Amino acid sequence: MADTIVILTGAGISAESGLGTFRDTDGLWSKVRIEDVATPEAFARDPARVQEFYNMRRAQAAGAAPNPAHHALARLQRDHPGRVVIVTQNVDGLHEAAGATVLHMHGALDRALCAACDHRWPAPAEMRPEEPCPACGAPAGRPDVVWFGEMPHHMEEIAELLAAADLFVAIGTSGQVYPAAGFVQEARLAGVETLELNLAESDVSAAFDRHEIGPASEIVPDWVDRVLSGGRARG
Ligand code: APR
Repeated sequence: MADTIVILTGAGISAESGLGTFRDTDGLWSKVRIEDVATPEAFARDPARVQEFYNMRRAQAAGAAPNPAHHALARLQRDHPGRVVIVTQNVDGLHEAAGATVLHMHGALDRALCAACDHRWPAPAEMRPEEPCPACGAPAGRPDVVWFGEMPHHMEEIAELLAAADLFVAIGTSGQVYPAAGFVQEARLAGVETLELNLAESDVSAAFDRHEIGPASEIVPDWVDRVLSGGRARG
């Protein structure tokens, strides 16, 4: 029976598509404060500032293209005889643009959410401070992204997937933000093999059985080639 592989991706997989990461040198959080743009309190305090920030990110994401790492994961999902589930922390649509299906645990830039009635709809390119909800009419439209202090999506499903996997792989994430940073421990407790593919050591590298260090656009296609050629999925 072919392996079931659960893959977690982070900002590092989109870095070579021109979308900056958060915590690397020159990362997004070195330019703007999380408290000003990525919390429900920030949105209540200054919705114009928050919308402007996500409008900028939405425009950047719309102008970006998937890189070889995104394409390789889509190929793995298509050609691997077993199950491949991709869970992403990213809010860009580059996995889907490469042909993969993914679980967006932190939401998506191309969706809007009504803070009054929870209705969701495709986000306009530019959201206004008091974006009207097409369902209830309230001026409460916000980006459908998970802010600090909010519960990520799909957590129950992810817990089941981690427990049933043969291999857990983390790609391009610093291991600094929970609950995603805790997935490797959950997988280990379930006896699942773990592999980290990253440009540099992360905060949770010690928890992984194996590591491969390098740019995602190089090490991910290499790893996928090995898996699909019947090599050990575990790197
Ligand atoms: N290839 C592979 N890995 C890379 C590359 C690359 N080209 N460039 C950077 N990296 C790695 C870095 O070494 C780092 O470990 O990607 C990681 C990026 O870390 P962060 O910027 O912290 O991004 P991420 O882990 O995805 O952040 C988690 O935090 O800000 C919140 O909600 C946001 O989803 C995000 C979460």
